[in-house]
Amino acid sequence: MSGEQPEVVEYERADEAVRDGVGEEDNPIPLWFNVGFYGLMVFGVLYILFYLLTDWSSLGEYEVQVAAAEAQSRAVRAALPTSNPYTGNAAAIEEGREVFATICMACHKADGSGMVGPSLVDPYWKYGGSDAERFQSVAEGRPGGMPPWLAQLGTEKIWKALAYASTLQRSAEPGVGSPEYVAPTAGAAPTP
Ligand code: HEC
Repeated sequence: MSGEQPEVVEYERADEAVRDGVGEEDNPIPLWFNVGFYGLMVFGVLYILFYLLTDWSSLGEYEVQVAAAEAQSRAVRAALPTSNPYTGNAAAIEEGREVFATICMACHKADGSGMVGPSLVDPYWKYGGSDAERFQSVAEGRPGGMPPWLAQLGTEKIWKALAYASTLQRSAEPGVGSPEYVAPTAGAAPTP
């Protein structure tokens, strides 16, 4: 075997081999490199141990967050007043109008008759039309595309927005989102 190997030119001392003016030297590995190299190994071992021995993982964080959200949701339910404290309160309704115009209008339309979100002025309520049920719809969201607003708005602004929504002109017809609703132009969504 070894006899068939091509002949390799060997230099007696590697650090004397100079080609094209470039010499190879035999200096010690710099300290910064060793610190980084062994430091990373130590870091890696500690990281794995920490990951395995504690709850510190994305799954663990997820579970903590879910538990926190459920606790918050229970707290909301427990603290829920059964009727809107701002009904008939002109100043609060004015504040609610601003919240409605900034946030709710985009999906429920300025007059509450609905676009992406269902009509809030027709007789039909998918999740219930009581103050408490409507509050829950807004605070916790609903699966069909209604985002939860409690974290962003807090209870006061939600009540105020709902107090304002209650002042909108009611309609006796089934509106957007109700099962009997018929779009004005067949197949077309109502224009904003
Ligand atoms: C991103 C669009 C969007 C925004 C913004 C939005 N909603 Fe909704 N909303 C929806 C959708 C979609 C539904 C229907 C959810 C379903 O059917 O599960 C809904 C449902 C509701 C319901 C329940 C209706 C029913 O028939 O039971 C209420 C009440 C409501 N929204 C009020 C509000 C208020 C008040 C705001 C402003 C704070 C708001 N929404 C902001 C999209 C939105």
